[in-house]
Parts: sequence; C-alpha cells; structure tokens
Amino acid sequence: MGALKSAITAVGGYLPEFVMTNKILEGMVDTSDEWITTRTGIRERRVLKGEGRGTSEMLVKAGEEALQKRGIEASEVDLVLACTITPDMVVATTAAKVADLLGCHNAAAFDLQAACTGFIYGLTTGSQFIMSGMYKKVLIVAGDKMSSILDYTDRTTCVIFGDGAGAVLLEPNDEYGLEDSILKSDGKGRDYLYVKGGGSMYPSNEETVGGRQHFVHQEGQPVFKFAVTNMADVSGEILERNQLTGEDVAWLVPHQANKRIIEATANRMGLNTDRVMINIDRYGNTTNGTLPLCLWDYEKQLRKGDKLIFAAFGGGFTWGSAYLTWAYDPD
Ligand code: ACO
Repeated sequence: MGALKSAITAVGGYLPEFVMTNKILEGMVDTSDEWITTRTGIRERRVLKGEGRGTSEMLVKAGEEALQKRGIEASEVDLVLACTITPDMVVATTAAKVADLLGCHNAAAFDLQAACTGFIYGLTTGSQFIMSGMYKKVLIVAGDKMSSILDYTDRTTCVIFGDGAGAVLLEPNDEYGLEDSILKSDGKGRDYLYVKGGGSMYPSNEETVGGRQHFVHQEGQPVFKFAVTNMADVSGEILERNQLTGEDVAWLVPHQANKRIIEATANRMGLNTDRVMINIDRYGNTTNGTLPLCLWDYEKQLRKGDKLIFAAFGGGFTWGSAYLTWAYDPD
C-alpha cells in the first residue's frame, strides 16, 4: 500500500446574487462589452452588495454546502484554512470567524495569502496535515470580495474581477487524492500588482485614501506576459515529472484571470478546450475562488480516478500547479 493521500471528498460554492454585466460597467467607466469579452472572455461577474458584508459570509456558505454534501458534523472538522486576499478585517483571523459560524468548534483555523494561487497553496498546505496523519478532516474555504478593493473609476482593473467563494473538504484516502504539487514565487513581481495602502508600510490615512491606494493597482501587460509563460511552464513541468501527457489528463482546472491565458496553458499541455474548466465568462476573476468554483460547476462531470491538473498565477508573484486524482463519482 502506498502513502496516505489527501483526497477532495466534497465541494461547495457560493456566488452573490447581484450580477454586474459588462453593460452595467459601460455606464460606469469608458469601456465596452466588446473590449471586455474579446480581451478577457468575461461577460458578467457577481458583486456582494450591502453594508457590513464581508468575504467570510461567502466562505461560510461555501463551507456549509461542502459539509452538508459530505454529511458530516461541523464539530468533526480538524482545521479550517481560509485562502483570501480580502479578509473581513486585518485582525481578527477570518478562518476563525468562519470556523465559529460553521460550528467547527474543535478546529484549528488560519488564513493563507498567496493571491490568485491561494487555492493551490491551500490545497498543498492542507494536504500536508492529512498526509502526515495529524488531521482527518481539513476544510479549505477560498474566495474574495474583490469589489471591496476595486476602484470603479479604473477601467483597467474593475472589469476583470468579481466576488465569489468555493470550498473543499480534504480527507485521507489510500488510492486517490493529491499526487504532486509545485509552488513557485518571484517577489520582483510586487511592482506590477499590489494594494499599496492599508498595510504596515503605508497604514491608512487621509493621504493613502485620497490617493486611492486602498485599491488594486495592476500593470496588465507585464502581468499577462509573466502569467502566460509561467502557468504554461509549471503545468508542463508537473506533467513531465509525473510521466503524463495531455492525453492522460481528464481536466485542466485553470485560474480564471483571462481566457487567453487559459487557452495558452491548455495549448501548451496539448489539451482541447472541451477538457478545460471555464467559468470566467460568468464570474470573472474571483481570485482565491476561481479553482474551487470550477470544481463546483463541473462536479457532476467528474469521475473517480480522473486526473486533474490545477494551474494558477497571482500577485506577488506566486504561481503553481497541482496534480490530483478525483476520489468520487457524482452522487
Ligand atoms: N476597456 C477599454 N479599454 C481598455 C480597458 C477597458 N476596460 N482597459 C484597458 N483598456 C485600454 C488601455 O488603456 C489600452 O489603451 P491604449 O492602447 O490607448 O493605451 C488598451 O486598452 C490596451 O491595454 P492593455 O493593458 O495592453 O490590454 P491587454 O490586452 O493587456 O488586457 C488585461 C488587459 C485584461 C488586464 C490583461 O493584461 C491581463 O489579463 N493581464 C493579466 C491579469 C492577471 O493574470 N492577473 C494575475 C492574477 S490577479 C491577482 O493575483 C489578484
């Protein structure tokens, strides 16, 4: 018998009700439905509206669904890991709030910040607890309220992001689960994608807020070039070191930042688009939410033993890929 694996045994998801279409954005900034769809593949995205509503609300709903589908009590969960760049507050820990609201009163809880690669970092980190035998049930909740850090006067960023969250439950399995993962970073990328204000370097004050420094700033082109090359490279690397070809892969689960980046990654792996999970058209880039929301959307098409390759790229820069064998059939 091989080493213990960490399998995904349930998936949950949540999207806020409000649908912000490209048409609505046309009325807010100098953009067009045509520009957004041809450059990014996005048609609409969701926005969590209303005072005092934070990312935790979406994480709780996604986590609740995963636990309910698996039919386990919240008290059985050993660890709640929240992957997000938009925590409810800088302090207290969002994962602890999620654990409390879910009723995971016996769980450890912490947040993980690796920008858009957060889910792959989270899946890998959570799996270490399972594979080592330390924990039996790890709930990963991943998502963002990107609308809380978007400047709706900046057409280069506000059109590409949306709000949403997903969740997966990890449990030990002898046969299926996480087979391999590659995590990478290059901090030189910090100059191209960041929120400058509100951290320890530039704490919020009138100047940072007046300068709109509490919003995401992105230089799209350098990020695009780096993302295309590195997402394709890391996916190629994970195939190679596991002696896989595109033929062996049932599904590519790519970060949903730009349809052109997704297509370039699929091409490099020799995959037809019918084996690539895509929902960017409906949700935009939900940052930490993209990968679990793909699983949530495609869950009914997944079969036990299917080989999945995850690939993502994000601010930092961080990027990575994971190879996982799916552990269950629908229903
Ligand atoms: N509507 C209309 N025109 C626009 C818009 C818009 N919403 N945004 C930019 N433009 C204009 C620009 O001003 C520019 O005009 P100019 O030629 O007159 O100067 C022109 O369109 C081209 O701009 P580019 O920035 O070159 O457009 P590009 O094709 O690169 O698309 C995009 C921009 C979509 C942001 C792309 O660069 C991209 O996807 N980048 C990567 C994003 C990514 O992967 N991020 C990492 C993950 S996110 C995270 O970690 C939080």
